[in-house]
Amino acid sequence: MIEEKLAAVVLAAGKGTRMKNSCPKVLNTIAGIPMIDRLIMTIGKVGVQKVVVVGAEVNQKVLADAVAPHPVIIQKEQKGTADAVATAKSLLEGWDGDVLVLFGDTPLVRDVTIEKMVKAKAEGADIVLLAFEKEEENKYGHIVCSDAGVERIVEFKDASLSERQIKTCFSGLMCIDGKKIWSWLEKIDNNNASGEYYLTDIVKIAKKEGGKVSLVLGDEREFLGVNTLEELAYAEEVVQNFKRKQFMDSGVTLRAPNTVFFSADTQIGKDVVIEPNVYFGAGVTVEDNVTIKAFSYIEGAKIKSGAVIGPFARLRPGAKICQNAHIGNFVEVKKSKIGKGSKVNHLTYIGDADVGEGVNIGAGTITCNYDGFNKFETKIGDGAFIGSNTCLVAPVTVGAGALVGASSCVTEDVPDDALAVARGIQQNKSGWAKEYRASKEKKS
Ligand code: UD1
Ligand code: CA
Repeated sequence: MIEEKLAAVVLAAGKGTRMKNSCPKVLNTIAGIPMIDRLIMTIGKVGVQKVVVVGAEVNQKVLADAVAPHPVIIQKEQKGTADAVATAKSLLEGWDGDVLVLFGDTPLVRDVTIEKMVKAKAEGADIVLLAFEKEEENKYGHIVCSDAGVERIVEFKDASLSERQIKTCFSGLMCIDGKKIWSWLEKIDNNNASGEYYLTDIVKIAKKEGGKVSLVLGDEREFLGVNTLEELAYAEEVVQNFKRKQFMDSGVTLRAPNTVFFSADTQIGKDVVIEPNVYFGAGVTVEDNVTIKAFSYIEGAKIKSGAVIGPFARLRPGAKICQNAHIGNFVEVKKSKIGKGSKVNHLTYIGDADVGEGVNIGAGTITCNYDGFNKFETKIGDGAFIGSNTCLVAPVTVGAGALVGASSCVTEDVPDDALAVARGIQQNKSGWAKEYRASKEKKS
């Protein structure tokens, strides 16, 4: 957390044409959350006091929803990054702290790195640039330095062949003196290869006016700019690798780390074992001593200690799996509690249900929770036993200790400790099959 007075301007009005998809660029997700939300969470951790998002008219509504309660100001025409920052001026009228500029498409920066930049600013700079070293030729802006330090930033399109060899690249993040930023921005023109107002030109303008510009270097992976779907996939890989390492460092066993996918908000306790090919969507909490077997897909679920999930299990939002419960293969649980020590081991759908403790749910059980219009609840008391291939037509209650015969279609409540059998009565016709066979064989 910083103590300096700092506002952030997040640029997100670019057309994102290189993404070639219809989703507004900054709303494409990485580890389950839109990239702009990740960035806003990060600046929240830093302790930025004011956040302004610059968006385009076309995306106004969705963007405003994603970044609420922070305001979105519209940049009418996408005339370049300098013009985008200048658009935010009206929302920062009277602001006398510094201004941090971030790009919505550069979402992986860490709070500690931003803090380093703010510290360098407090040490007497007018502008601090976040940069990284990259050996291979690339399309980032290149930072031109002389013996006297940073001189200017040259965009790839405008760079000479020798400037393109410069290894110091601009990340897109800068921290600018709040009292000087607006007058410097006004002096930027669009006399360049793209005909755009480049924010990066603020450096040479500041230098001309005797401003001090300094550099903070960071890890290239943090500054990955997402402009294409290929870069989005790479950003996902970077975040997933980070999460995998973070979990392994905290005592989670991943049998095949590269095949397990987490969300930004996944929480996992100690002594948890996760087998290959497991996917965590948003909102999952896993307590200690849980085993999640291969090929399970889990989202919006709470898994309490000692539970065993999978293989091939699907936990959907609102699933709460209590201590030592077992959810087995081809079992789907939605918005339901599975009580302590209960077992739902094979081929089952449990939706909108409250399952007590020590319950055994037989293979192929289905809670019929939906009539095409509304959802209804199923309650199963402690210690009940549901025979295989049972339909529980909700709303319905199976009492504690009750037993439901296999293949029942339960439409009425079952009292505690009762036996319910709700299926056709079996008839055995002696010799019938043999006679039938004989008659068929005679005909052929
Ligand atoms: C920019 C930098 C480049 C840097 C790179 C880092 C400039 C001129 N160039 O290039 O030096 O190495 O980022 O990733 O700043 N945007 C607006 N309004 C506009 C134009 C852009 O809001 O009129 C937003 C975009 O939505 C995006 C960000 O600004 O979030 C950067 O724009 P983009 O066009 O992606 O810049 P780059 O070419 O990547
Ligand atoms: Ca970019």
